[in-house]
Amino acid sequence: MNKILIAAAAVAALAMAGGAQASEAMAKDKGCLGCHAVDAKKMGPAFKEVAAKYKGKADAEATIIAELKSGKVGGKTHPVPKASDDELKALTKWMLSL
Ligand code: HEC
Repeated sequence: MNKILIAAAAVAALAMAGGAQASEAMAKDKGCLGCHAVDAKKMGPAFKEVAAKYKGKADAEATIIAELKSGKVGGKTHPVPKASDDELKALTKWMLSL
């Protein structure tokens, strides 16, 4: 029984990791952490705050990606990330998982 649970957890972890692996390191690499932190407000909101704001919204991922790519977040100018679509998707998924 235990072995089955462990195997299931491993599969779930792999599934969540997906293609491009996103993490705090990626957010740092893309320059996001210059203005954001995971759980503290800097120039921009804490990523945990963003996750809470979008919690339960089915289109959260698409909305955030579209905002970031358009360079306008909440009607204000925001730097467009130098990231591929896959990277942006992974980064947004990670952010929303916080
Ligand atoms: C130059 C500073 C700066 C950088 C760099 C930056 N942000 Fe932001 N970000 C902000 C500010 C300021 C806001 C708040 C905008 C507002 O008041 O609506 C914000 C808001 C956001 C939001 C909130 C969107 C919402 O709908 O509430 C997300 C998500 C976000 N940033 C993601 C990112 C990601 C991902 C990166 C890196 C690829 C990044 N930001 C890099 C300054 C920055």
